[in-house]
Amino acid sequence: MEALIHSHAMGNVVRSGLRQKQKSLPSWLFYDEVGSILFERITTLPEYYLTRMERMLLCRYASAILDHVDRGRSLTVLELGAGSARKTALLLRAALADKRDVSYQPIDISAQSLEDAALHLAEELPALRVQPVLRDFSETPHPASVRLHDDARGQQMLLWLGSSAGNYEQQEAVRILTAAAAGMEKGDHLLIGLDMAPRADGKRTHHLLEAYNDAAGVTAEFNRNLLVRLNRELGAKFRPKQFEHSAHWNAAASRMEMHLVSTVAQSVRIEALEESFFFQRGEFIHTENSHKYTRENGHALLCAAGFPVVAEWHDPDVWYGLFLGERS
Ligand code: AVI
Repeated sequence: MEALIHSHAMGNVVRSGLRQKQKSLPSWLFYDEVGSILFERITTLPEYYLTRMERMLLCRYASAILDHVDRGRSLTVLELGAGSARKTALLLRAALADKRDVSYQPIDISAQSLEDAALHLAEELPALRVQPVLRDFSETPHPASVRLHDDARGQQMLLWLGSSAGNYEQQEAVRILTAAAAGMEKGDHLLIGLDMAPRADGKRTHHLLEAYNDAAGVTAEFNRNLLVRLNRELGAKFRPKQFEHSAHWNAAASRMEMHLVSTVAQSVRIEALEESFFFQRGEFIHTENSHKYTRENGHALLCAAGFPVVAEWHDPDVWYGLFLGERS
């Protein structure tokens, strides 16, 4: 029954996305089981610097981040889209080393990821209290606004790592954060990881292009897997090989965009929708935006969510940033 409701909702999203003049599909459709595994592989690719840099920043600055949090009180860390929580463990370990009482509430849409996270955290950090929350955090009402676990007291820190905020328009990211932080109080914190925009000299644009067009073709497979998913879950008749992966830098919107470009003129039937969709040769489906932030825009994002920035940490070339805001 749940699966039926799920495909019904998915069907509506796909129908309206493919009926538009500029066809588009939301990027959350990437993350079925195979897509989540492919994304984990992307995070280990030499070209995909984002994960490596964020891990390095968390490793180097965990205690500087925690210096902003009152040592005498217990701490609850909530994380949107926690995934495997491998990087978060760096921060949690540092918090426990301060002899604090620390709880961790990973929020994720994938039961498998939550299970994996709980397992490895129980092994690595036995003193940590882990309270997983299986939810789609982009939906309203937000889980955190309906208080997740009532013993979530003391100070709170909300995490949104991995540059995931970049997959939303800024306004939407603010909406998600505002809802997630509804129960948070003055002095609580928000820590966000953002991929930074290339500077005006354009030095970094080619690194961005490589990060989304890796030599091993994993990102291309990740992009095309969306069609494989629609074939399986909606009885679509896409021939994934007839769609080419394309990722390019949209300077005006400061974002990487991913597209799936039809290499031939073709009509694709989607059984669950009882509808066929026509593609001209060269016509594309817009599948993802990945916004890159300037420092100013990073500050504006946190401020709009009610957490003015109190500190930020970057790699020396400012490719990536961790922004810490405090509830005012
Ligand atoms: C999850 N998200 C932050 C990734 C990104 O970089 O936008 C997803 C991704 N798309 C292509 N490669 C990785």
